[in-house]
Amino acid sequence: MNKPNVFISRQLPDIARALLSEAVFKCQIWDHEIPMPQNALIEHCQGMDALLCTAIDKIDAALYDACPDLKIISTFAVGYDNIDLAGAGKAGIRIGHTPGVLTEATAEIAFGLMVAVARHFLDAHRQIPEGSWKYFVPTRNLGQDLQRKTLGILGLGAIGFEMARRCKAVYDMQIIYHNRGINEEAEKTLGARKVTFEELLKQSDVLSVHASLNAQTKEIFNQGAFSQMKEEAIFINTARGGLHCEQDLIEALASGSIWGAGLDVTNPEPMHADNPLLKMPRVIVLPHIGSSTVFTRDEMARIAAQNIIHFFTTGKLLHEVETKKAH
Ligand code: GLV
Repeated sequence: MNKPNVFISRQLPDIARALLSEAVFKCQIWDHEIPMPQNALIEHCQGMDALLCTAIDKIDAALYDACPDLKIISTFAVGYDNIDLAGAGKAGIRIGHTPGVLTEATAEIAFGLMVAVARHFLDAHRQIPEGSWKYFVPTRNLGQDLQRKTLGILGLGAIGFEMARRCKAVYDMQIIYHNRGINEEAEKTLGARKVTFEELLKQSDVLSVHASLNAQTKEIFNQGAFSQMKEEAIFINTARGGLHCEQDLIEALASGSIWGAGLDVTNPEPMHADNPLLKMPRVIVLPHIGSSTVFTRDEMARIAAQNIIHFFTTGKLLHEVETKKAH
């Protein structure tokens, strides 16, 4: 093959383009901070052999049908719920992603949100510019203790494990989890215990979500789920906003059926600036920054580019997503 053509759908850390150009790919880039509209993405991918995309590009049959030269799509993300895998399999397109490198950065955001919500970091801070910090009030800003509480994890994969490891090491928390499979390492090293989803809801003092978004998990945290949680519970979601129903979360917090929430992902994204969650006490929302450290984003760019380079040089990807099972 002549030099393969690669389209990069967003401004990324420079290393992605540098590696691809060095490996003699012809790169074109949507050199903007704003995401591409889907019709522009399809237009720019005409005649491309590879696409390096992000987690918010919609990758589906419309793209596959319009771009028959595409052989590989490498996403700058660990999650791939934006990609129609079955369609990619049928179109013979290989899919790459960037697991592993963002595990610690994302677990850190989950852990940080948990502490910040439990101890009122944001609403206590707001009291200062509002002028309501006048004197020491023994009964104000009372938080939740985390020491020896129960951490529940939905989706105990790599990121969930790192969150659990931190919670065990710092607060000696009991770890329970709900997964399809058993996480033997977590059971052995952290004493984690697998429970049903209902037990997870009922027993968790902090419930941290690390599952992938799919038809089974879509809005699994809804009114029915929140109503089974403890009134002191803190809900943390750093995975995908689509795992919770935002209106039901707002109502659960407003009615006191749960105590607080820390979100790095929202449903939908971006969250609208007038969303009531942003004004609620004991709620902290971040704009999807789980993997956002200099080192992690550089590594994601490196791996996303190398998936493409390896594919064209060896036929293998560094990290490939299985598309056949998706049929
Ligand atoms: C970010 O959300 C990712 O999936 O990498």
